[in-house]
Amino acid sequence: MKLAILGGAGRMGRMLIDCAKELHLPVVAVTEIPGSAWIGQPATEGVTYQDTWPTAADAVIDFTFHTCVTENLANAVACGQTYVLGTTGLTEAELAAVDNAAKQIPICFAPNFSLGVNLLLELVRRAASVLDASYDAEIVEMHHRHKKDAPSGTALGLAQALAKGRGVDLEQVANYGRHGIVGARPTGEIGIHALRGGSVVGDHTVMFAADEERVEITHKAVSRAAFAKGALKAAQWLEGRAPGLYNMRHVLGFEA
Ligand SMILES: NC(=O)c1ccc[n+]([C@@H]2O[C@H](COP(=O)([O-])OP(=O)(O)OC[C@H]3O[C@@H](n4cnc5c(N)ncnc54)[C@H](O)[C@@H]3O)[C@@H](O)[C@H]2O)c1
Repeated sequence: MKLAILGGAGRMGRMLIDCAKELHLPVVAVTEIPGSAWIGQPATEGVTYQDTWPTAADAVIDFTFHTCVTENLANAVACGQTYVLGTTGLTEAELAAVDNAAKQIPICFAPNFSLGVNLLLELVRRAASVLDASYDAEIVEMHHRHKKDAPSGTALGLAQALAKGRGVDLEQVANYGRHGIVGARPTGEIGIHALRGGSVVGDHTVMFAADEERVEITHKAVSRAAFAKGALKAAQWLEGRAPGLYNMRHVLGFEA
């Protein structure tokens, strides 16, 4: 497998380069946004940052910004490359581009590539199927001050897992942050709240609050290596797969 890392000077990009080296996975190209001061600078052994599409790679890992994902996918389709997509905050049109590209290349798309969070998703789905709407469900996430999208892709994934466990449509019951005279909390609502500050890598808590007890399930990412190693595992898993849209449930072998 010959890997390319897109957005290689970013927080995740740099971690992916380090983890690929630690795991002896060959990185043949690293890209950055055109005009970046990094272009031409060394990225990893024998590889400099480039602003052109990495045609030499057979697998690309994308942790960039949502606005460039559609073009990146088109390039990967043209080159027949496998694709690990970690970028979050995609619009409906960009999500449709992911679906379309997955008809032609294998794509693994996950809002969070860490093993622990993917286990958390499973636990939340199970908890939501046991703890009915008499348990008020709230999701709270916290990330570093530089994060651009809110709520986090992981919080949205947790909200979807919760809604699925309860057999409800998330958009009918979601309440994204509260402000002002909001009135009493409707039964069955799923509250989602985003905190921003400091250098927090990523904390997520899912809470089920009843009159007599409260269940809280929390995950705290301590290092971005948790995401990078999961993304590299996904890249290895995708090798030789048929075109399609996969996620970490497939990579980790959880039943569908
Ligand atoms: N799925 C996960 O597990 C996971 C984990 C962490 C972060 N993320 C997401 O990954 C994305 C990146 O996060 P980050 O903290 O590394 O951000 P960042 O801003 O530090 O890095 C993004 C990098 O991409 C570069 N970039 C932008 N457009 C580009 C283009 N067209 N071509 C090449 N490079 C380009 C930027 O210059 C920047 O260096 C965000 O959407 C974030 O939410 C996902």
